[in-house]
Amino acid sequence: MDFVYAPGKNHLFIPGPVNIPEQVIRAMNRNNEDYRSPAIPALTKSLLEDIKKIFKTTTGTPFMIPTTGTGAWESTLTNTLSPGDRIISFLLGQFSNLWITQQQRLQFDVDVVESEWGQGANLDILASKIAADTEHTIKAVCIVHNETATGVTNNMAAVRRILDDNKHPALFLVDGVSSICALDFRMDEWGIDVALTGSQKALSLPTGMGIVCAGPKALEASKTAKSVRAYFRWDDYLKCYELGTFFPYTPSIQLLYGLRAALDLIFEEGLDNVIARHSRLGKATRLAVEAWGLKNCAQKEEWFSDTVTAVVVPPYIDAGEVVKSAWKRYNLSLGLGLNKVAGKVFRIGHLGHLNDLQLLGCLAGVEMVLMDLGYPVKLGSGVAAASAFLQNTIPMIPSRV
Ligand SMILES: Cc1ncc(COP(=O)(O)O)c(C=O)c1O
Repeated sequence: MDFVYAPGKNHLFIPGPVNIPEQVIRAMNRNNEDYRSPAIPALTKSLLEDIKKIFKTTTGTPFMIPTTGTGAWESTLTNTLSPGDRIISFLLGQFSNLWITQQQRLQFDVDVVESEWGQGANLDILASKIAADTEHTIKAVCIVHNETATGVTNNMAAVRRILDDNKHPALFLVDGVSSICALDFRMDEWGIDVALTGSQKALSLPTGMGIVCAGPKALEASKTAKSVRAYFRWDDYLKCYELGTFFPYTPSIQLLYGLRAALDLIFEEGLDNVIARHSRLGKATRLAVEAWGLKNCAQKEEWFSDTVTAVVVPPYIDAGEVVKSAWKRYNLSLGLGLNKVAGKVFRIGHLGHLNDLQLLGCLAGVEMVLMDLGYPVKLGSGVAAASAFLQNTIPMIPSRV
C-alpha cells in the first residue's frame, strides 16, 4: 500500500488551489447555519461590498456563485451574449483554450486570435479587427488576464485603449482567475465589463466559489441576451439582492465565513502590499530560473507573470518527471505542463498565502529534483539569486513594525 503521509508540511506550489491561511481554516471550521437567519445576509452584504475593493470597482455588481472558474466563465458569457454573436477570443495556453471551447459550445461565432504558447495576446490583430469592424458586429472581446498554463500576463489597459480609440462598443470580458487579488487589477479604470475569479486562487480559499463582477453595460446586456441560462441567471441574484436574501440557492456557509476571514487578512496586509509581495515572489522565482540556466516559457518581460512561472526544461528531461519526482521525494507539489507544453514545462505557482522563505524552500527543492534528473545545476544557485533579491527588498511585516 502507498502511504500518503509525509512528515512536515506539503510544499504546495501549484498555481491553484493554493495554501489556505490558518485563520481562514479556523473561520470555516464551523457547523452549518440557517442561511435565512439575519446573520447571513449581514455577512453577505459586507462581502459583496468588500469584493468590489479587490476588483477595484465602485460601479460593478458582484455575484458569489457556488461554482468554480469554469462556471464563472459560463455565467459571464450566457448572461451577456446570444448564440451566433461574433466574439474575439485569444488563444495562448490551456485555460484560454478551454474558455474558447466553452464559447464554441455555447454557439458563439468565435474569432480565435492565436499566439504561440509563451507569447501574450496579439493586440495588433485585435486593433486591426476592431478598426475594420465599423458595423460593430463584434459583440465581445474575451481575454484571460493571466494565462496560468504559460505564466503569461496580458495588458488589459492596452485592450481598453484599442476599444476606446475606435469608439467600439464590444463588451470587454476578462478572466482574472489567476490574477485578481495578486496582480494589479483595475476593473473600473480599465473599463472591464465583466471580470471573474475563483476562490481557490489568490483569495486562498478552498475551491467552490466563483466570483463574477458585472459592470453597468454588462447588466444592461443581460436584459436582452438570448443565451440559455438556468442556474447562472444574474436576474435571480438581483431579485434576491432587492429582497435582502442575497442567494437564489443554498450558499456554502463555511465558504462565506472563510471569505470574510480571507478578505480581512488581505485588507490587514493592504491590497497594494499583497500585489507588491506577489511582484517580489515572481521576480525572485525568475532570478532562480535564470541562475539555473533555464528559460521562462513567457518569452518577453512584458508578459512575465507574478503569480506563476512556467519553466522550460531541456529536451532530454521530461517536465512531468520533475513534477513526479518533486512530489515523491521532496513532498513538493509543482504544476504540470498542460496540452501543447506538456512534458516541456513545469510550473511554479507563487500566488496566494505565501512568503519569501516558503518560496526559497520550493526553489531548493526544484534544484535537487533537477540534479536528480541529470540536469547540471549548481545546488544553491537559484536559491542564492532569489534570496539576494528578497533579502534586499523584503519589507517589515506591517503589523510588526
Ligand atoms: C486562468 C484560469 N481560468 C480558468 C480556470 C478554470 O477554473 P476552475 O478549474 O476553477 O474551473 C483556471 C484554472 O486553473 C485558470 O487558471
